[in-house]
Amino acid sequence: MMVEGKLWRTIWREANPPAAGIIDQTRLPHAMVTRSLRTLEEAAESIRAMRVRGAPLIGATAAYGLWLAMRDDTSDAALERAIAVLLATRPTAVNLRWALARGREDLKPRKPEERVAAALALADRIAEEDVTLNRAIGEAGLPLMRSIAARKGPGEPVRVLTHCNAGWLATVDWGTATAPLYRAAEEGIPLHVWVDETRPRNQGSSLTAWELRQQGIAHTVIVDNAGGHLMQRGEVDLVLVGTDRTTSTGDVCNKIGTYLKALAAHDNGIPFHVALPSPTIDWEASDGLREIPIEERDPEEVTHLAGRLEDGSIARVSLTPPGTSAANPAFDITPARLVTGLITERGVCAASAEGLQGLFPERSS
Ligand code: MRU
Repeated sequence: MMVEGKLWRTIWREANPPAAGIIDQTRLPHAMVTRSLRTLEEAAESIRAMRVRGAPLIGATAAYGLWLAMRDDTSDAALERAIAVLLATRPTAVNLRWALARGREDLKPRKPEERVAAALALADRIAEEDVTLNRAIGEAGLPLMRSIAARKGPGEPVRVLTHCNAGWLATVDWGTATAPLYRAAEEGIPLHVWVDETRPRNQGSSLTAWELRQQGIAHTVIVDNAGGHLMQRGEVDLVLVGTDRTTSTGDVCNKIGTYLKALAAHDNGIPFHVALPSPTIDWEASDGLREIPIEERDPEEVTHLAGRLEDGSIARVSLTPPGTSAANPAFDITPARLVTGLITERGVCAASAEGLQGLFPERSS
């Protein structure tokens, strides 16, 4: 997508010296800073520290991490160690496991001397495929945007509420939940996006607001608790979010707070759609609440906040009385019954085993 008139992706290959380039998302929205990942450890650290984040981008970064590991040591033991190191970075987004399983399947049968080139080709392929999948999600979601727009008066915007950042920053390009929005904007459909700030890390107010601004899409940041109120007032036409892992039965795991938005949408008869590429489907899981591991993050993300002071410097402040205990579950589960539809690269389906198998018949057992 465009940043200040220049086309960017969130991850790219650098030649000299060999590295994977990333946008350091911990510095946004205050600074656009890039980093070069030259080792397995740097790739793992970037995922762990959330310099890169969002399910599809975590998967793509892990694939480049395998390449960086192979550049050091092409043995079977090094491959298994790299997979273990990367898998341990974050537990919830299934794209990580998916990308590493693909890496093992591709690299293990090869001779060690072939593995560096093969790992790089695979990482490039995974990144490229992600762009294609998200573009297809944009096409698949476009009829939904058109149908809501058709019910509006001339010039009246389609009002979409989104949570966290399921935009291009969470993927290699396009985003998942934002892809239908970007396609709708290209078609001239007027839009307005309610952006949940998404405490505690504020991916909404710092990342989604930044990228929508770069793309020129009208938006307003709201506190996480405002969504229900806006829905009751008839100010939301559609809730559209991404997901870190969706079960084969359509239970959706996404950033903490998503479940409450789904409940409010259900209570107010507002469609609640989830956009996802197929690598985010966990075909082995059928019960989201029991089977999806929920990441517990540092309580200091709740008790402290970082931001820019008037003089431009970045400061970290404490919000709670000293010693206050805090809990920080990073994701929650929205049961399939609260999900109106899943927007995938192959089209829109019901959030159910039948719905998903209809689009992915090769997964039917
Ligand atoms: O903790 P994060 O920032 O990695 O969480 C990201 C999300 O929850 C996104 O909504 C999800 O990955 C879908 S993104 C295409």
